[in-house]
Amino acid sequence: MCGIVSYIGDQDPVPILIKGLRRLEYRGYDSAGIALLDGSILSSVKKAGKVSELSDQISSNTIKGSCGIAHTRWATHGIPNDVNAHPHLDKTGKIALVHNGIIENYDAIKKTLESRGVIFKSETDSEVLVQLISELYYNGDGKLDFKDSVKAALQEVVGAYGIVAMCSDEPNTLVAARMGSPLVFGVGDNEFLFASDASPIIEFTRNVIYLDDGEFVIVKGSEYSISNINSKEIVTKTLTKIDLTIEEIEKGEFPHFMLKEIHDQKHSISDTLRGRLNLDDGTSMLGGINDHIPSILSASRIYITACGTSWHAGLIGKHLIEEYARVPVHVEYASEFRYRNAIIDANTILIAISQSGETADTLAAIKKSKEAGALTLGICNVVGSTISRETDAGIFTHAGPEIGVASTKAFTAQVTVLIMLALKIGRKKGVSLYRGKDLIKSLKNIDLNVTDILKGINKIKEVAKSTFKANNYLYLGRGVNFPVALEGALKLKEISYIHAEGYPAAEMKHGPIALIDKDMPVVFIAPQDDTFTKILSNIEEVKARGGIIITITDKENDALSSLSDFVLVTPKTHKYVFPINSSIILQILAYELAVCRGCDIDQPRNLAKSVTVE
Ligand code: M6R
Repeated sequence: MCGIVSYIGDQDPVPILIKGLRRLEYRGYDSAGIALLDGSILSSVKKAGKVSELSDQISSNTIKGSCGIAHTRWATHGIPNDVNAHPHLDKTGKIALVHNGIIENYDAIKKTLESRGVIFKSETDSEVLVQLISELYYNGDGKLDFKDSVKAALQEVVGAYGIVAMCSDEPNTLVAARMGSPLVFGVGDNEFLFASDASPIIEFTRNVIYLDDGEFVIVKGSEYSISNINSKEIVTKTLTKIDLTIEEIEKGEFPHFMLKEIHDQKHSISDTLRGRLNLDDGTSMLGGINDHIPSILSASRIYITACGTSWHAGLIGKHLIEEYARVPVHVEYASEFRYRNAIIDANTILIAISQSGETADTLAAIKKSKEAGALTLGICNVVGSTISRETDAGIFTHAGPEIGVASTKAFTAQVTVLIMLALKIGRKKGVSLYRGKDLIKSLKNIDLNVTDILKGINKIKEVAKSTFKANNYLYLGRGVNFPVALEGALKLKEISYIHAEGYPAAEMKHGPIALIDKDMPVVFIAPQDDTFTKILSNIEEVKARGGIIITITDKENDALSSLSDFVLVTPKTHKYVFPINSSIILQILAYELAVCRGCDIDQPRNLAKSVTVE
């Protein structure tokens, strides 16, 4: 989604802002722009396309200043073009603003402003906000200074925003505010940055303030103050130190972030497990939720809510929690859950899963559940993210920053946390020491499994080379491997644009079997567990119709070899750890297929890394 970066300080803002925009590219965008304030001269450049195109334009069209705001736009209102790109300027050309989020009542405000003679240049909701600020500042009764005009405008808008604005009447000043769209404030030595996430900030300072909804910041030269949008009252905030290295947010020797992050799984899963397993007691130690164990144990139902890949992790979590903890678990798309009349009460636990911790629908589902009295737990990857702060308690996945749009290491870390959570509740509810130890022993081998899987990349490349021209792909699995099928299909769609479906293998006969012909690759996730003989029959059914069979298993046998065109074998492991192994194979398969098709893997079309609007 859109990205904001802004700088005020002693250095030249242009290279800082351009680099910041590059760091935000992973969020997904279609245009970019920058505005600078040089004394009382405001200038801006905006461009549809990549940040590199913006940067080329700036070097041939020198603009300079002492502070500046910049933006990557992911279109919501209005097509991606130069005019709709941010920053947006008001009618006087003296105020510039960058905005993330959606102004829901933009149409009504726009009509009022138009009736007063304001002419809009763009089709965006964001321009409405800057024009409203301008109207209040220049055409009000003169009582409002720039800062108060921004506050007054924000009090009139409905929706979500993270904004940074500046005005040529107030040199060397930036104002920023947040309501529902993340904004991090970096506090350096005589220099300050605002950004949608910490990645553009860490080269300058590790001290940040995570702004909360309703907060407003003004930076004037080397001074800043934080207040509430609706009042003059000063808010005291504490500085947080960010624990993030530059190496973690760069792709190093890898051609794509996605491939780097697939390889990171050699350590990201064990980083997530570190210090949390107790083999002797056959259980896990999850400090973040300790205080809430009694409520979790007495809960009558658990909802897991999430979007996309995190939702798939939730489906795996349902299998695990119901198996070990014997409590009903309902897995809900956050976008649906937030609007439906679900049964939520004080005996309900809501587990929200989110890599970014900023997904708007997931956040709304949390708010709704809290209001209805549920205990809310977060499983998040980004420390300091809104979801990690809004939930009552939680468990961090320690996967490290995930930059590739297609989620990989965050997914396996989420599944890892869910295994530990199921184990923790299960052991408290009477699961035997033997079963607890059995699961932990398999988890402890996870690094070796991943290393082994990565050694098999060439075989996966062969599959990709023979099937990349396919228009459709089908993924089939049973039980806990059905969500793995869904995840494999999502990964493929996202980055290769091949249409793919995930289905429970036995459901194939109820419809999708009609699609199968000699051009249809069908991926079976077929471990040798209690579902094996059943899935073998499903493989026979596809074979009989000429489909291309790709089987992922933990033990090859004659039947599989003779039926399958390709067999990809993962190390033997526990039934509930196998989804981690097989998902990594599917991540590599999607990656290699996208490489064969020449796709833009880290920035797939239309996608945003974290979906911060509804
Ligand atoms: O940050 P979140 O985990 O809340 O994001 C949820 C989805 O937007 C995300 O998983 C999306 O589906 C990914 N692009 C999948 O690879």
